[in-house]
Amino acid sequence: MKILVLGSAAGGGFPQWNCNCGNCAGLRRGTIAASARTQSSIALSENGQDWLLVNASPDILVQLRANPALQPARAVRDSGICAVLLMDAQIDHVTGLLMLRERTAPLPLYATAQVFGDLSDGLPLLRVLGAYCGVERHVLGEGAVTLAPLAETLLAVVALVSKAPPYSPHREAPRPGDNIGLVILNRTNGRRAFYAPGLGVPTDDVARVMGASDVLLVDGTFWSEDEMIVQGLSAKTAAMMGHLPQSGPGGMIELLDRMPAARKILIHINNSNPILREDAPQRALLARHGIEVAWDGMEIDL
Ligand code: MLT
Ligand code: MN
Ligand code: ZN
Repeated sequence: MKILVLGSAAGGGFPQWNCNCGNCAGLRRGTIAASARTQSSIALSENGQDWLLVNASPDILVQLRANPALQPARAVRDSGICAVLLMDAQIDHVTGLLMLRERTAPLPLYATAQVFGDLSDGLPLLRVLGAYCGVERHVLGEGAVTLAPLAETLLAVVALVSKAPPYSPHREAPRPGDNIGLVILNRTNGRRAFYAPGLGVPTDDVARVMGASDVLLVDGTFWSEDEMIVQGLSAKTAAMMGHLPQSGPGGMIELLDRMPAARKILIHINNSNPILREDAPQRALLARHGIEVAWDGMEIDL
């Protein structure tokens, strides 16, 4: 099976519309070695025609244009997207649902009860979509699921300690299910991937799942805890936003060093992160630890 990275950036994308940080300004001017990135989404397929979209990014239309494999054109109105699964209810992961409203049938949507709650209440996208294609709700719980066209793929949810979206009434008291990681198991060859773009705290459970994975596709948002503060971009730390930074004691690099996975890939990268520069020392350090940085269009075989 194939995992296709549609968007490898965190909320805001790279460059971000209103940002003049060194990375965003440098990319616009063409003075740094870096590539533009759209907001956070991946797609999974076994046959290259039917795709499970994981997260619906605000950049979905651009992503679909850049990836014709998701448009197999089998009918006058058609899409390769057979269903959407959400990792959380954050703006950068859900607002693309509105762009899929022209579907000719209700959209099969997989999410936790907590995410369905936020999308019915704080950000009532489901009610809005009800006036268009509508959604077919599938609540994700403890058990593993298989979606019809991806018959050889087993998907299992891992509850993460992270953050509900800023608009959510649960922002400061997050519940299990506000934010999930996803185990993707290829039943044909037994290989496993773990996808977690919003990994705040690596609990023992999470570390166990990561330790049993062949491919890790995990939170690459920030290099350091105070990166946004130091650059004058925001008053928020990585922890306040529910993200584990890469550097420092207890950071993502240390965590990944303990993992036997053949591929360790950072995804959901914020535009302030120095690893976006291909010639940055931080990037070289990642390479020495065997850690890759996802890019839009990256394909991973599982
Ligand atoms: C996050 O994951 O914290 C988001 O990227 C923030 C946002 O979308 O504004
Ligand atoms: Mn995000
Ligand atoms: Zn920026």
